[in-house]
Amino acid sequence: MRILVYGAGVLGSYLAHVLVRGGNEVTVLARGKRAVQLKTNGLVIRHYFQRRNTVDEVNVIQELTTDDLYDLIFVVMKYNDFPSVLSILAENQSSNIVLVGNNADALGMRNENSRKK
Ligand SMILES: NC(=O)c1ccc[n+]([C@@H]2O[C@H](COP(=O)([O-])OP(=O)(O)OC[C@H]3O[C@@H](n4cnc5c(N)ncnc54)[C@H](OP(=O)(O)O)[C@@H]3O)[C@@H](O)[C@H]2O)c1
Repeated sequence: MRILVYGAGVLGSYLAHVLVRGGNEVTVLARGKRAVQLKTNGLVIRHYFQRRNTVDEVNVIQELTTDDLYDLIFVVMKYNDFPSVLSILAENQSSNIVLVGNNADALGMRNENSRKK
């Protein structure tokens, strides 16, 4: 599958690693220094208890445009960060978007976003 992981922190990076190893075509949306790291070194993960490092190749983008189509988008960030990306996701034409995070109030976010329109 063609999958976007939107948010390249701890959880998003590990999710991207697992998805790559599962044979998917994975793109990561990252910003700032993290985007540079991923482009330069690949997706490097230190598996602490297994005492090994893995490096995976991922596509890296820094913004999501309306026409970037994915089979699946995982949005992996802190609860407070979701509102800043909802309008970007709403404009994108991909059909399957999964918000991953603690305290994600999907109904509340939908209602709040609807009121702004
Ligand atoms: N880590 C865990 O062990 C763990 C366990 C259970 C649940 N969770 C939950 O999983 C979620 C993700 O946790 P995490 O530990 O992966 O958080 P994290 O390391 O802080 O990663 C969040 C990522 O989202 C990015 N981000 C935020 N706003 C963005 C935006 N507008 N555009 C692009 N990227 C954006 C951040 O980029 P910047 O660095 O540029 O801000 C950061 O890379 C949270 O809800 C957390 O509560 C985490």
